[in-house]
Amino acid sequence: MTKHELLTEKAIRQPSKWEPGNFILRDAWFPVTETRQVLDRPVRRTVHSQPYYIWREKGQYVASEFHPAMAVDIAREASAFTAGTGRYPVVEQYGYVWVWYGNPDNADPALIPDIPFLPRHRSMPEYASGTNYFHCTYELVLENILDLTHIDFVHGNFSGTHESEDDRISVESTSETVTMIRRVKNKATSEYQRDVLGIKEKTQDVTAFTHIFIRSGVCFLHAHFSSAPSMPLMQTNTPESRFLTRANFVFAPHESWSKPFRRTWPKTGPMVAEQDESVLNPQNPRYLPHGDEPDCHTRFDTAGLRYRSRLRDLINRQKQGDFSYLPDMAEGSDIAQVLNVKRLS
Ligand SMILES: [Fe+2]
Repeated sequence: MTKHELLTEKAIRQPSKWEPGNFILRDAWFPVTETRQVLDRPVRRTVHSQPYYIWREKGQYVASEFHPAMAVDIAREASAFTAGTGRYPVVEQYGYVWVWYGNPDNADPALIPDIPFLPRHRSMPEYASGTNYFHCTYELVLENILDLTHIDFVHGNFSGTHESEDDRISVESTSETVTMIRRVKNKATSEYQRDVLGIKEKTQDVTAFTHIFIRSGVCFLHAHFSSAPSMPLMQTNTPESRFLTRANFVFAPHESWSKPFRRTWPKTGPMVAEQDESVLNPQNPRYLPHGDEPDCHTRFDTAGLRYRSRLRDLINRQKQGDFSYLPDMAEGSDIAQVLNVKRLS
C-alpha cells in the first residue's frame, strides 16, 4: 500500500452517532491486577468507577467493595454489584485476578476469555509484563487497536512505515469479539528491527492480528514477520473510569525464537503506549456530544466499524435488560489457530 492509495480511498460517511463512554456494559470479567501484586495488604482498583479492594485471605483472593479497615455497615452500604455481601466474584487465572462487574448471579468463570498463549494457572516472568494508562475512553483504545494501520504512522520506528507492495485486511466477529487480520507484502523493516535486532532484509512479509473482547476491553495482539522475531501480547484495557483506561499487559516470551528479543521487547511497552497516548488523548474530547460531525473511513477501518456495530448491538440488548452471552460466542474461529500460537491452556 502506498500513502497515495490510502488518501484516495473513497471515504464512507457514517451518519450514526458514535459516543464512546456513554453507556456502561455490564456482566463481564476484568483482569484488574497481576496476582504477584496482591499480598495480604489490599490493592485498590476501579472498573467503571466502581471500587475493588483486593487482597489474599488464607491464600484465597478476596475482592471487596470496602477496605478491610473501614468501619462499614455491610448490610446497609453494600451495593447490588456484590448482592449486598460487600464481596465481588473473583477468580485467579492466567496470572491475573479477574473480578466481575455486574450481577454476581451471572458470574460464570467460563466467560473469562480463552487466552491460548498464556498458562491458565501460572504467571509469566515479571519482565514480560507491565501497566500503562491512556487518558481516554476504553472504546477509543479498542478502536485504535483495531486499526492496525495506525501502527505504521504512530509506531513506525518499531514496526515499519506504511510502505509496502500489498496490504489486505480481513475481519471476523461474534456478538462479543472482533478479530482483525492484516496481511502485508514487502513492508519496510523498521528502525528498531534493523538497529536493535540486526535484521538485514530491507522488507518483510507481515501478518498482524488483533482480537478484542467488547465488554471487558481485553485484547490480544500478535504479528508474524518473515525475518524479525515477535511474540503475542494480552492487554487488559480496563475502563477504570469514563476517561481513564488502565492497560495491564503481558507478553508470551516462549513464542519468540529470539532470546534477546524476549527480554528487550517488553521494555518498549511504555514508549509504544506514549505514542498511542499522543493520539488518543487529543482524540477523546472530539467524541463528546457537541454536534453531528460525521467520521470518514476507508477500507482499513472495517474492523473499527464492525466494533461500533457489535458494540451498539450489545448496548441495545443491555438497554432492554438482556445481559446474557449469546451462543454465537462459541462459533468464532479457534483463536490459537488464528494467532498461529501454541495452545498452553
Ligand atoms: Fe498503538
